[in-house]
Amino acid sequence: MARDLAGGAGGGRYPGQPGASPGTLRIPLPAPVGTRPGAARAVCRPAAHRLRGAAGATRRQGARLVAAAQAPWHRAPAGPPPGPADMNRLLPAGLLRLAQPYPWVVPLLALLGVLASMAEGLGIGLLIPVLDTVLGATPATSAAGPLAGYLAAAVDWIPADYRLPLLGGMIFLLIAVKTVLLISHARVAAWVNGRVAHDQRVLVASSLLESDYAYVSRLDQGQVISLFEQQSERAGEAMSLLCTLLATVSTVLVFTVLLALLSWQLTLVVAAVVLPVSLFVRTMTRRSRRLGEALVQTWAGLSTRILELVTSLRTVRLFGAEQAEVERLAAASNATRRAALRTGFAISMTQPLVELFYIPVFLAVLAVALRLGIGLPVLFAFLALLYRLQSPLKRLDHVRVELAAYAVTLRDLARLLDEAAARPAPSGSRPAPPLRAQVAFEQVSFRYTGGAAVPALDGVSLQIRRGEVVALVGASGSGKSTLVNLLCRLYEPERGRILVDGQPLAELDVASWRQRLAFAGQDSDLMAGTVRENITLGCPEATPDQIDQALRLASASDFVSALPGGLDAEVGPRGSNLSGGQRQRIALARAFIRQPELLILDEATSAVDNVTEAEIQLAIEALAGRTTILLIAHRLGTLRMAGRVIVLEAGRVAEQGTPAELLAADGLLARQHALE
Ligand SMILES: Nc1ncnc2c1ncn2[C@@H]1O[C@H](COP(=O)(O)OP(=O)(O)OP(=O)(O)O)[C@@H](O)[C@H]1O
Ligand SMILES: [Mg+2]
Repeated sequence: MARDLAGGAGGGRYPGQPGASPGTLRIPLPAPVGTRPGAARAVCRPAAHRLRGAAGATRRQGARLVAAAQAPWHRAPAGPPPGPADMNRLLPAGLLRLAQPYPWVVPLLALLGVLASMAEGLGIGLLIPVLDTVLGATPATSAAGPLAGYLAAAVDWIPADYRLPLLGGMIFLLIAVKTVLLISHARVAAWVNGRVAHDQRVLVASSLLESDYAYVSRLDQGQVISLFEQQSERAGEAMSLLCTLLATVSTVLVFTVLLALLSWQLTLVVAAVVLPVSLFVRTMTRRSRRLGEALVQTWAGLSTRILELVTSLRTVRLFGAEQAEVERLAAASNATRRAALRTGFAISMTQPLVELFYIPVFLAVLAVALRLGIGLPVLFAFLALLYRLQSPLKRLDHVRVELAAYAVTLRDLARLLDEAAARPAPSGSRPAPPLRAQVAFEQVSFRYTGGAAVPALDGVSLQIRRGEVVALVGASGSGKSTLVNLLCRLYEPERGRILVDGQPLAELDVASWRQRLAFAGQDSDLMAGTVRENITLGCPEATPDQIDQALRLASASDFVSALPGGLDAEVGPRGSNLSGGQRQRIALARAFIRQPELLILDEATSAVDNVTEAEIQLAIEALAGRTTILLIAHRLGTLRMAGRVIVLEAGRVAEQGTPAELLAADGLLARQHALE
């Protein structure tokens, strides 16, 4: 299912997904394309950095998140993926990681929870002196704990006449304080939930753009989309559950202490029943985790199917596969529905089952209290506290089971972020200086991971001299695009090296090297957004004059001005509002506007008509001499403008020379074109 993330159809974008489209900052220095090669480079910035801005995160926040994601304590273990035994560790570690950018959240929520429970517990405790006053009873039997005594002493100073209204007012006040604290708790929890989901989306985006291309291009697109959508959202939910857990644990702890202070004997009775319940919940937790795993997997499967369907609407119709596609989607959707049903059922079943255990608790407490002769006010307060403790206890079990279902989500997110962090896009440190003499391949071999056993490039040696127009030809699959991929440093050679003016490409800073290149290919890879945004993708500060000139060079001016809105016309998802040849011309303009030192055209005019191609050729020929051009083309007409032709065959250089020389000799090129 793995498909090239950048190159494959679909590319992981949904229609309507906002494209990165920051306003362009223009510098008031019109410069004719091809005359001031340094100017555009000086203002061009890598598009990857704009993503964080588009996602609404400030640069500082982005840096902090990335730092958090790369903190050494949660670096991915290099070994195999974690098995079920690791899951117990995974959940707390995963939650800690989500909370790491917000170190104050956990203590704050715990504090709010403790304070709220203390306010409520104290309010309930005050019922003892209230009942004492009402019943005129002598407080605190010997069997009762110290709390009743403290409370009696504390209210002793209140004159008997005022005692009831004053105590009533205090109870009301305490419950009001508890309410305000719990509302604040809920607000913080909701905020951190949204924040965490947002963080995960931004982190996944930066991981995809900043880690090794060879790694990300092999990821399953459905899984990646699921990480962006459901799993990020679920991470937020897990965080929110952690907040609930904190509040609940605080209440349980505070109430347990208060119960023990009221009567340790009765508290022991309660504990004797709660412990087996806890064991039962452990079993449910394990089951819930397994079901959660299945749910995440089915979601990823469904995302893949949705992506395939949305990006293949035309193909499916043309091949009459509508029914089959709907059925495949329905099957994936049904699997998700069933998995969600099972998980939901397991979670919701816990609470009613646990409730069964609580009925005997009340009966046992009553019986023991009678035997010990505990006074009515204390027993009443104890039962009231116990009654109030019941729902946090139930919630505690419920949250434990529910959280377990999120462990897989946290593991999958952490796995992608860790793996991406462990595979940063390779780059040297030296800024790439302007090209002076040549780029040379020295015995370069390359094999795609997961690809065929035979290398895509096998001991390739060649030179591209400054200002030269070199054409690269060869049969389909002979390694032309692979060579370009290595030259652009999307992949690293397995053996051999690439030298730029004698310096290994591996030692150069990759961003500064790419600033000297521009690429236009066969799949023009437009992004949803306007024509203008697509053209200025690699050069956001381009002036209107520069845009005009680039459009003219690419023979695109006429059709762009005829579009509704002109430069501001929407190209649609992946450029689907335009024809293939129009898309290619926008992609060419996008390359020209960068005023590159090295222009790489990988069958960049394969979809345009002959007349337009001839126009574009003229433009390219005008650049020759000042710009180094690497052309991949099949048509003889295109090859003739090259100073040198290099013929690849099965990943090796088969022959090279001027077009005239090669056509005159009885080589591969001559034979191929004899067929034309
Ligand atoms: N992402 C990939 N993963 C695995 N194998 C790949 C990948 N891309 C290309 N290959 C393989 O590498 C070899 C060279 O492919 P490449 O794309 O360089 O050919 P090409 O000369 O550009 O062909 P075409 O003229 O069809 O574009 C082919 O055998 C191809 O199957
Ligand atoms: Mg190719």
